[in-house]
Amino acid sequence: MSDAESTLITGIGELISNDGEPDDGQPDDGEPENGLPGSFAAMTDAALVIAGGKVAWTGPASRAPAADAVVDVAGRAVLPGFADSHAHLVFAGERSAEFAARMAGRPYQAGGILGTVEATRAAPDAALRANLRRLAAEMLRQGTTTFECKSGYGLTVPDEARGLALAAEVTPEVTYLGAHVVPPEFAADPAGYVDLVCGPMLDACAPSARWVDVFCEDGAFGADEAAAVLAAGQAAGLHARVHANQLGPGPGVRVAAEAGAASADHCTFLTDDDVDALTSTPVVATLLPGVEFSCRQPFPQARRLLDAGAVVALATDCNPGSSFTSSMPFCIALAVREMGMTTEEAVWAATAGGARALRRTDIGHLGVGARADLILLDAPSHTYLAYRPGVPQIAAVWQAGSLVAGAVP
Ligand code: NIG
Ligand code: FE
Repeated sequence: MSDAESTLITGIGELISNDGEPDDGQPDDGEPENGLPGSFAAMTDAALVIAGGKVAWTGPASRAPAADAVVDVAGRAVLPGFADSHAHLVFAGERSAEFAARMAGRPYQAGGILGTVEATRAAPDAALRANLRRLAAEMLRQGTTTFECKSGYGLTVPDEARGLALAAEVTPEVTYLGAHVVPPEFAADPAGYVDLVCGPMLDACAPSARWVDVFCEDGAFGADEAAAVLAAGQAAGLHARVHANQLGPGPGVRVAAEAGAASADHCTFLTDDDVDALTSTPVVATLLPGVEFSCRQPFPQARRLLDAGAVVALATDCNPGSSFTSSMPFCIALAVREMGMTTEEAVWAATAGGARALRRTDIGHLGVGARADLILLDAPSHTYLAYRPGVPQIAAVWQAGSLVAGAVP
């Protein structure tokens, strides 16, 4: 579709726009708050016009304006493309044996990361690129129109820099995760590795990245080290996000709040103080239920966070160790069934929540002016994402107004 053309999508059984009234106590002016997605909003018997790659109009199908092309979706649901704000897609090798061992009773201790580091360092660019593109295409077919991608399996200056350069080929949301774990060659000198991450490695990586991340956890990086990594990244112009409180209680959420991070990710083991930190600051709590599923851990307490007023996002954490799923629909189903989220909350978290975690105002909602990233479900309502788990229901995907996956049935 050229920029001059407009397309009317009509016959929408349920249009999820996420441009509802923000919970800010102010009168609704119909615009997303500060350009941010609004609250969950759904309209039945709706239509939407795409023009110039953006949403140009939404409203009742009976009042739809004329357009150059018309698509009738016959009562199916349309929702914003998923925004997956946490993924590790630059890697080589696989760890199915580690998964099987875990299912046979061995705990997840993040030790397997080093196996992936070894395989990734040994892989040629072409192999890393092919794997990354395969996973990105897999995400798109499942409705993810924006995804974040981290480095973190290179852990040398050239390997981290190449991981980020590869990630930047497929997404603008590129995250420098040199502080994933301490690599074996620095086992006796972890402080030396932090200096490398904050110095020459950052210098080589910052030009390809938007974000800096750190795995703040026992066995990875402590509070002071994590704070130093985030501060160095921020001084280089990157924005902070943190792997926090995944394997046990710890300082990750506090470190994220103190650094003004966009998001604290995992949030599986939270104290009341952590919940307070997530409700009293703009840090988004990004929950990754694929990890708890694949590591047979207790799921994060989404209900506790939502009831306290935190902003919650859902993401896949797609990686070969703790969560080898690229499927946001699967994560939505887990969040609804296992984490006490309503279907509306889960879909909002996977769309608008992800946008918030990435500090994006152009995605995660279908208000007028938003990027026309759309999912057509082969179902009449968003509820089907959790109601029919494991069933492929993403009929078609539009990205910036272009049909990029599937077809209108
Ligand atoms: O988000 N927590 C650290 N990193 C990944 C796991 C990576 C791996 O096991 O390879 C995560 O779960
Ligand atoms: Fe992760």
